[in-house]
Amino acid sequence: MSFTAPIPIIGASHVPGLRLDPDWHRKSVFYEVMVRSFVDSNGDGFGDFQGLTSRLDYLQWLGIDGIWVPPFFQSPLKDGGYDVSDYQAVLPEYGTIDDFKHFVSEAHARNMRVMIDLPINHTSDQHPWFLASREDPEGPYGDFYVWRDTDEGYPNVRIIFVDTETSNWAFDSVRRQFYWHRFFSHQPDLNFENPAVHDAVYDIVRFWYDLGVDGVRLDAIPYLYESEEGNGESEPATHQFVRDLRRMVDDEYPGRVLIAEANQWPAETAEYFGTAEEPECHMAFDFPTMPRIFYSLRAQNASELQRVLAEQVEVPPGAAWGVFLRNHDELTLEMVSEEYRQAMYGWYAYDPRMRSNVGIRRRLASLLDNSRAELELANALLLSLPGSPFLYYGDEIGMGDNIWLDDRDASRTPMQWSPDRNAGFSTADPGKLFLPPVQSLVYHYTSVNVEAQMAQASSLLNWMRSVLHVRRQHPVFGLGTITVLETDNESVLAFVRSYGGDGTYHGPKEEHVLCVFSFSHNPVHVTIDAPDWSGAALHDLFGGGQFPTIADDGRFSLTFGTQSFYWLHIGSQA
Ligand code: GLC
Ligand code: CA
Repeated sequence: MSFTAPIPIIGASHVPGLRLDPDWHRKSVFYEVMVRSFVDSNGDGFGDFQGLTSRLDYLQWLGIDGIWVPPFFQSPLKDGGYDVSDYQAVLPEYGTIDDFKHFVSEAHARNMRVMIDLPINHTSDQHPWFLASREDPEGPYGDFYVWRDTDEGYPNVRIIFVDTETSNWAFDSVRRQFYWHRFFSHQPDLNFENPAVHDAVYDIVRFWYDLGVDGVRLDAIPYLYESEEGNGESEPATHQFVRDLRRMVDDEYPGRVLIAEANQWPAETAEYFGTAEEPECHMAFDFPTMPRIFYSLRAQNASELQRVLAEQVEVPPGAAWGVFLRNHDELTLEMVSEEYRQAMYGWYAYDPRMRSNVGIRRRLASLLDNSRAELELANALLLSLPGSPFLYYGDEIGMGDNIWLDDRDASRTPMQWSPDRNAGFSTADPGKLFLPPVQSLVYHYTSVNVEAQMAQASSLLNWMRSVLHVRRQHPVFGLGTITVLETDNESVLAFVRSYGGDGTYHGPKEEHVLCVFSFSHNPVHVTIDAPDWSGAALHDLFGGGQFPTIADDGRFSLTFGTQSFYWLHIGSQA
């Protein structure tokens, strides 16, 4: 199959029953793709919904179950679309509401879910609400934003975009007051103390669920409320808002999900699941684990990862982590210690241009110096963690980045489909593209592209596809618990994923899989302690090969080549 020419759209427009499985979000592999970066169907230099729809077959072929599309709404695009000026309109460059509806039904026809992204903490300063708020303080939108006469309120709140902002307050020359903003100064924060703001947000959420989306990512969710005493992150009122929103979703849109983007310390991130009685989000991105994966790869030491995974709080029934290696933002280092942060800057951001705010603006393949062993190790670990994996577009072919572009655009360049003009992304005059495709020595689109990797059986793309297909055969990866095991080698991480099987709606059978990863840059031998599994037989999940049985004392030994992993089925005990 070639994906360089438009693919004819096939299939029914709706699959009845797609939402019947209440655990769908726990069994899915998601793919994040920015609409403007994927396929340009009309040659104007911008990717669009028709283009994205034309490549759904590719995503299905790869083994993707859900697509996360970052904001595609009307926007001045000063923050990649996270600066929204109309939440109920599609940016004309991306298409129309009808194009979006068509995209959703074609995704559903392929058994893929669609997750959109709603930045509700703030709007663009071009949003009509803000224009009205600054013009008419007494009018209906006067209190839609957080206005003050001075720039002194909320003194304990940190600045997030430290590269560009010096204060969370900005002066508005029209209203002659200061307004509050957690991100860029062109993104005023909505005032959640105002009930009318809640109504407006509910209208937006309902609008998109009514169009058939399966999930909503709650962008920047910790920052909704601020207080004089607090630090403006995850304040009690913010959690109350999320709980109320969840109740509405459960009542009106059962089976659809909310996912929290909360870049917080482990315990605080987990709070976005709420409790079984008072749930908040169905999913939350696992920000704590992600940077520790990159740390382990270079430190050749698994102990920090071992600690975080062993301490990971259990999520309420039906909830799931969203695990990821990279996304459209910088690899954030906000939630690691200063010592780790400095080590990671040294390993991964040795050129100052690679940094952005408190993080690193590079893609997976270039972070890992294009090492195939490391790419396989990192992806296999991602696919083994408790939760649902989110891949970032282009990482399946090992796309590189362009640190000469501004800010996070470094890793938002056109998808590389083929060695043709504009990497097969667009037929436009190259100068017209929203961003140029990568043309660096190692990652040039003439060598790194989908077409070439499809033609080569041993390519990263084909490896990704096969590992995704193996994972899909084993629901334990999505549904199971995790038990971290002791090893006698600090560069080796070992854990068991276990699923008991509950027999409901043809639920999967009981299954236990041992996942072992060696971060060492040299071959190693390790002895692992699995006291609960003495006498159990081990078989490789890929080829079925038999491994030594676990000894009576629960120990067994493995030998690893450089940076490698095993997925071993744990069979019946003798
Ligand atoms: C989220 C988005 C990021 C955006 C920010 C402000 O963190 O992931 O891309 O810049 O919100 O909207
Ligand atoms: Ca276009």
